[in-house]
Amino acid sequence: MDTANIAEIKKYKEIIPLTGVTTNPSILKKEGRTAFFDHLLKIKNILGTKCSLHVQVVATTTEGIVQDVHKILDVFGKETYVKIPINEAGLAAIKILKGENVKITATSIYTAIQGYLAIAAGADYLAPYYNRMMNNNIDANKIIAAFNKVIVRENKPTKILAASFHTVGQIVEAIDSGSQAITVNPSLIKEGLESHIINDAIADFTHDWESVYGQTTISTLTSE
Ligand code: G3P
Repeated sequence: MDTANIAEIKKYKEIIPLTGVTTNPSILKKEGRTAFFDHLLKIKNILGTKCSLHVQVVATTTEGIVQDVHKILDVFGKETYVKIPINEAGLAAIKILKGENVKITATSIYTAIQGYLAIAAGADYLAPYYNRMMNNNIDANKIIAAFNKVIVRENKPTKILAASFHTVGQIVEAIDSGSQAITVNPSLIKEGLESHIINDAIADFTHDWESVYGQTTISTLTSE
């Protein structure tokens, strides 16, 4: 889930096969001025040990990024994935941090070259920004498929964690194109599971059942 909203994380942890939560400064901003470390620790506690927390650095120099990462790992634990935007400073930081076995989510990926370099640098996840790519006339499906091809051909451990979705259709396209994981805002999960066509189908079943058996369910129906 691509959110820092505690209520949504608690809710959807019980509904979807959640494997982790991704955050960045823009996602955190949506929650107002929370206590950064406390807020993310709350999320980490909700996630438990089976789901991963991805925390983004904010420093913009290589040295600063490495220092941000060390602080993130000190506070949230070594199993945390650190999100690093892929530019020169970020890539240089990944080279250093991979020497320390840090788990990396390479983010802000719009182009094939960013992704190829992040794969080569040993990123654990690549986060291509699907909707933003499409808005900039960059074919996200083609690039995700190209990443997947290189990962398979070179037998790399990197996984694609596509992000920046604005429609349910985009999520499906990204998975079809080869994204092994996706991170989405809760509103899109709701959209995908609670749309009118789905709810209408369920309401029709309820109506048909109740028109024959009254207001019962299978568990409350008396045997005949
Ligand atoms: O994880 C990246 C994502 O938060 C960016 O999404 O909607 O700002 O393009 P968006």
